[in-house]
Amino acid sequence: MVISDAIQYIGVNDHELDLFEGQYQVPKGMSYNSYLILDEKIAVLDSVDAHFTEEWLERLKEKSDSRRPDYLVVQHMEPDHSAGIAAFMETYPEAEILASAPAFNMIKQFFGTDFADRRKVIKEGDTLSLGTHTLTFLSAPMVHWPEVMVTYESHEKVLFSADAFGKFGALDAEENGSAEGSESTAENRNAEGNKAVDTWIPEARRYYIGIVGKYGMQVQNLLKKAEAFDIRMICPLHGPVLQEHLEKYINLYKTWSSYEAESEGVLIAYASVYGHTKRAAELLAEKLRERGCQEVKTADLARTDMSECVADAFRYRKLVLAAITCNADMFPFMKTYLNQLTEHNFQNRTVAFMENGSWAPTAMKNMKAALENCKNLTYAESEVHIKSDLNEESLAQLEALAEELVK
Ligand SMILES: Cc1cc2nc3c(=O)[nH]c(=O)nc-3n(C[C@H](O)[C@H](O)[C@H](O)COP(=O)(O)O)c2cc1C
Ligand SMILES: [Fe+2]
Ligand SMILES: [Fe+2]
Repeated sequence: MVISDAIQYIGVNDHELDLFEGQYQVPKGMSYNSYLILDEKIAVLDSVDAHFTEEWLERLKEKSDSRRPDYLVVQHMEPDHSAGIAAFMETYPEAEILASAPAFNMIKQFFGTDFADRRKVIKEGDTLSLGTHTLTFLSAPMVHWPEVMVTYESHEKVLFSADAFGKFGALDAEENGSAEGSESTAENRNAEGNKAVDTWIPEARRYYIGIVGKYGMQVQNLLKKAEAFDIRMICPLHGPVLQEHLEKYINLYKTWSSYEAESEGVLIAYASVYGHTKRAAELLAEKLRERGCQEVKTADLARTDMSECVADAFRYRKLVLAAITCNADMFPFMKTYLNQLTEHNFQNRTVAFMENGSWAPTAMKNMKAALENCKNLTYAESEVHIKSDLNEESLAQLEALAEELVK
């Protein structure tokens, strides 16, 4: 990946990883990005996952043209970015390590030393001149961990954004392929840029909602700080470097972090065993489409990736929850789902309920209780109560719900 003459990509692609952070499926792999800035002084920004330390050091050596780095900047101590610290410090004993004070506490926890004689403790607004390039460090607590800082490089106007603006998927996965062959006219770049945004969104949304979604306020703080800087490029720690249409990416982050819906659509998330609730959910989707609802999505909570279902709840304005009763509670997958939603600070949405049960339905009561602590949810007045299968009465409730949701 070409960034510029002075800023080189030295990250790696992981295609072996089964679950990112122990829970997220990454069918297209994952990238751990690391950057090298070559100037009078040489700085490396972050390392990579432990499985790739050798490969990373090799790349670093290759790209530095037999010069040796002066600084390792540690923006984030999560091991997918920090595992190579000790190996780096051993390979380059003359280099200094720069990180925030809370990051140095973690460095000591992870590596048994905080490199006291070779370190610079960085705080908000500190700068580091490399020659032509100057780094300004900004703290970004809880985007994703408390020690996080991001780095602005003022010569090329690059924001190194740590986990913010990251995305699931390796960089050599097809979807991130470069626009080779097309002539570099302004028009082509614009079209390619738009395509890149569209390709980026789904897995960046799932990544954002899953990983930093809970910390909307802290992301807003970072976005406000970043507004003071002229940013021409964003270099995150996962996923592609963002170079065109930055305002679109930043606007998406504004939407996501303020818990606004990205779309006026409806997600119908259901949990069904024998299929009756599923059929009711599909029927509701059909009725919504008949009424002109542009975007309606149904998701079987037992068979769809949970983080995808969580991300979609944040994506759409309206959420319909349809679950069977199971042992006087709701079906387990629905329970997990609502638990995840509340953990991610789900708020500001319209929610509707459908329940099913054959003898004593209690799913709806339990679903409502599970969402009790969510802020600013509006419950639809129409409720659908099914006893085993839809009948005239519950069908009428379903019609009424469809009507209410498109109003
Ligand atoms: C493991 C299990 C536990 C259940 N527990 C209850 C219950 O406590 N109360 C109830 O009314 N129905 C209970 N049911 C019945 C289902 O909620 C009911 O048959 C429902 O109509 C199934 O809808 P479906 O066709 O969408 O799976 C249970 C079903 C299963 C499989
Ligand atoms: Fe992280
Ligand atoms: Fe990360």
